[in-house]
Amino acid sequence: MDKIIKDKVALITGGSRGIGRAIALLFAAAGAKTVVNYNKSDSCAEEIVQKITNNGGQAIAVKADVSNQAAVNSMVSEVTDQYGEIDILVNNAALAVVKGDALSLPIEELFSSTLTGDEMDLPAEKLAAIWSVNVGGVINCTQSAIPSMIQRGAGKIVNISSIAGLGESTLKKTFYGLSKKVVIQYTKRMAIELGTNGININAICPGAIKTDMLTNFAVSTKNYQSILDEYSNNSLLGRVGDPEDIASVALFLASSLSNYMTGEILTVDGGYSLKNH
Ligand SMILES: NC(=O)c1ccc[n+]([C@@H]2O[C@H](COP(=O)([O-])OP(=O)(O)OC[C@H]3O[C@@H](n4cnc5c(N)ncnc54)[C@H](OP(=O)(O)O)[C@@H]3O)[C@@H](O)[C@H]2O)c1
Repeated sequence: MDKIIKDKVALITGGSRGIGRAIALLFAAAGAKTVVNYNKSDSCAEEIVQKITNNGGQAIAVKADVSNQAAVNSMVSEVTDQYGEIDILVNNAALAVVKGDALSLPIEELFSSTLTGDEMDLPAEKLAAIWSVNVGGVINCTQSAIPSMIQRGAGKIVNISSIAGLGESTLKKTFYGLSKKVVIQYTKRMAIELGTNGININAICPGAIKTDMLTNFAVSTKNYQSILDEYSNNSLLGRVGDPEDIASVALFLASSLSNYMTGEILTVDGGYSLKNH
């Protein structure tokens, strides 16, 4: 692997699992000083750091709930103290549904549980939690990282949105889709605001990717395999995506290979959106 972001300080929110995990591993392999942010999954974050350092890379794990501005500010201070100013920010952390401790259940219990995972069943405060992470978290981290990027006249921000934000949200995921639409609009607006400061800000809209989020999603249909089949059959490439499919595009957007791109929204869904229009 070419070290195309060698010694760049890269903060990946929600780097403990799924897509964020794959981004952290790839960025570290590409030479970055990698910061694995997490909220609840301490052991997963530590495992990634161990894996990276065992391979001769550089990584630290930093706990912070991205929906909490004070926690985000102290995370950014900690990163700066340990590694220096942030060069690359990947706003990846998000929630699709909030179902108490569903994630800690074995998959067979997930399917037999009474949890539905449907937004329609969620009380207002749970919907607010989705909003505060998916939208508030992106804004908090960006606000905290950009002052030093502006000062240095350089920075790369990669926001992970979703095809749900492009109108592909499935039934009972309207609120999630709305939050992801806001991320798209925020990306474009901030590109306008920050372009003359030498900051590139772009977004990726993944399609269905095999992570815990997709497994959780299955709670509402009670059939994980049917979701995989549906997305495979309805994509042009005939398969569901892997986290690495998104990580490689994130690396492109975080590197100098994309220096003349900003405000772009890249769909990475194996052709799902095209086939379904
Ligand atoms: N998987 C898909 O099919 C798909 C499709 C389109 C878009 N996306 C987007 O891709 C991104 C990653 O999704 P994923 O599938 O990898 O999800 P995932 O497997 O559920 O992982 C979510 C990650 O976000 C972190 N997180 C959640 N709340 C947080 C908070 N308050 N503060 C800090 N970190 C928090 C989690 O950390 P802890 O476990 O430590 O709390 C975890 O590392 C999200 O933006 C998602 O909307 C996913």
